[in-house]
Amino acid sequence: MLEDIKSMFAQEPLTSRLYHLVMDPATLWWTFSSLAATLMIFRLSTVPSHLRHLPRVPIFPLLISYLSGEVEDVRIKRLILPYANERGEGLVLVWALGRWMVHIIDHKLAVEMLENPLLYPKELPSDGLLLWRFIGASNILMTNGDRWKKHSRVIRDAFNLSIPVDQFTHLSKNLFDVINPPSDKNDTHTVDFADLAQRFALDAVGSSVLGHDFDAIHTESLFVKEYNGIMRDIANPFYLLMPFLEKVFPRRKVIKRMDDLVDKFQMLLQAKRTDPGDDMMTFMLKEPTMSEDELRDNMVVLFIAGHDTSAGGLSTLIYFFAIHPEIQAAAREETLRILGPTSDPSVDTLSAGSLPYLNACIREALRINTPISYIVPRITAEDATLGKYYIPFNTSLIYNIYALHHRNDVWGDPNVFRPSRFLEMTQGSSSLKDAWVAFASGPRQCPARNFALYEQRALTVMLLREYEWTLPADSIHQDGLKNAFSPFALTLPHDLHITFTKRK
Ligand code: HEM
Repeated sequence: MLEDIKSMFAQEPLTSRLYHLVMDPATLWWTFSSLAATLMIFRLSTVPSHLRHLPRVPIFPLLISYLSGEVEDVRIKRLILPYANERGEGLVLVWALGRWMVHIIDHKLAVEMLENPLLYPKELPSDGLLLWRFIGASNILMTNGDRWKKHSRVIRDAFNLSIPVDQFTHLSKNLFDVINPPSDKNDTHTVDFADLAQRFALDAVGSSVLGHDFDAIHTESLFVKEYNGIMRDIANPFYLLMPFLEKVFPRRKVIKRMDDLVDKFQMLLQAKRTDPGDDMMTFMLKEPTMSEDELRDNMVVLFIAGHDTSAGGLSTLIYFFAIHPEIQAAAREETLRILGPTSDPSVDTLSAGSLPYLNACIREALRINTPISYIVPRITAEDATLGKYYIPFNTSLIYNIYALHHRNDVWGDPNVFRPSRFLEMTQGSSSLKDAWVAFASGPRQCPARNFALYEQRALTVMLLREYEWTLPADSIHQDGLKNAFSPFALTLPHDLHITFTKRK
């Protein structure tokens, strides 16, 4: 091969070789496209003059991090946290999804922003990123002002109706059948808990919020398979790095699949009208001010926001119990003392006050591996000042919760799983209370916070009574918990195999 090339070049004069290089249409096309792409990246990555006064993470390490598929938590620890831990900055500019955004890494500054949604409303996405098309525009997550107030009131009322502890208990028992099938007499089984946690969380949100039984624990739901496929397509790294490509080279097939899935949500909604149930969607359907499109868009949001987040929290907790048998044993001791060995949990026995140690473990898991590492961007409606920083009009801002949860000056030992820090806190000896913001804070914090915490406590007490568990020796998580790549700020452990042994 090498010889062939050498002889070709030996036979052809230099001018003719250059002529071919320049005039060959394929070469020309590649040269121009590469030049255009380089120029575009350069233009996009140049810090706009009105933001140059702010500290910023250099672009090249960021680009390398994105292109190499580095996961969000590792990138935050490596490139963003040093600005808080070593340089004492409260915010830093970060290039992501084709533009520069301010990442807030100080709680006081974040509170200032979150408590003032008029000055810092949610940013309405201008780029063509397909995720926004999927989520829709007429829902609690993407609206501002009075429109948001309407969605928020209806959804918060729906979550306040009751806590579906019976559903959580029923689904936990379904999960046992998958961990150790009744036909199998062995007491020890190794399962992918990250996958099971996602299935459990889907069924929890499906049955009690959306009023649809995906039966994800037992079956490979086509609906869920389609959703996972679409999320993978949306996350194409080229389109993520340069979202304008969605407009230049629209991905019609992906859009069609996405729109078809949104139609399926619409069908679920229509089915709910004719066959109402004891779920939150049935309650929301009674709201006269909600249009069909608003109900559907909220359904999509509740589906997306309601399962991966909970699954991530559960997987993280089960992992830390697996590697800290003494913490697992203490949580089990508390569970057995409060609930006894067999009685089904209730809203009272599962309250945070009833199970303080378990609750501290859950909070610590949500801190150390925060499922939503940062919030949906806000934008300055006019020139603003956050602490010592001047933030011009029209600047995108993100609250980087994961970074705050790992600040040395706040937590002391942020990388250590130490639930007792939250017990010390409730005794008034610590001011960490405000720094734990897994569900964000202010008026737009998670409306499902209570629902999600009950869900975590319900499954965990059921597991603690039924099994003891460890991390297999060949686990990919032996040197620390590994999260899946997620372009949407989700921190979710993957391939988390856990060995469960049935208790006598
Ligand atoms: C451990 C589980 C969960 C965590 C850590 C979590 C965290 C969060 C966070 C940080 C936000 C603020 C996002 C922002 O401002 O951009 C949020 C908002 C939201 N969450 Fe959750 N969440 C969890 C579970 C759930 C569940 C189970 C549901 C529904 C079934 C849900 C529905 C929502 C909705 C609708 C919003 C938007 C609120 C608004 O914009 O007013 N979340 N969540």
